[in-house]
Amino acid sequence: MFELIYRSVALDKINSLEITKILNISREFNLKNNITGCLLFYKNEFVQILEGEQDVIEKLYAKIEKDTRHSNVILIAKNEKSERTFHNWVMAYHEITNDDISEISKLLFVNNFISLCEIAEKPTNATMLFWFISKQILKKDHEFKRIV
Ligand SMILES: Cc1cc2nc3c(=O)[nH]c(=O)nc-3n(C[C@H](O)[C@H](O)[C@H](O)COP(=O)(O)O)c2cc1C
Repeated sequence: MFELIYRSVALDKINSLEITKILNISREFNLKNNITGCLLFYKNEFVQILEGEQDVIEKLYAKIEKDTRHSNVILIAKNEKSERTFHNWVMAYHEITNDDISEISKLLFVNNFISLCEIAEKPTNATMLFWFISKQILKKDHEFKRIV
């Protein structure tokens, strides 16, 4: 099993339609190619962990790197590991930038994700880095307050 983590900055004018397109293509391709992982998009930043066969992941990353919907793509880590961390996650995503969603639901989501970062199994340094960066992105602005 191989894992790769990167972070990037979304195109300024990215909209939820573009995000939905990315998710649809990812879910289909990743399912077919036995790729699991997690993609976090918040305040215009992406962080993604991809797990699967090395060659498949490296080829996918080469495509993602060239994708014009984001820039400043930085590779955080890539390494072999003994087992998957995100068994059932083809690509999890939760829309929290949508204005229809109340502030309290957004806060709850952010809090839950931060808790997940804190309790997740940490079998590799790379996975720890994924959770660390996720937390950094979610806590980026101080307008957010912990409510639990
Ligand atoms: C932040 C981000 C994450 C992406 N994650 C995936 C992914 O997990 N799986 C995938 O197939 N494509 C993903 N893509 C889309 C690829 O960059 C690319 O558009 C897609 O693989 C289709 O490429 P193709 O048209 O050359 O086949 C992602 C794009 C972005 C901007």
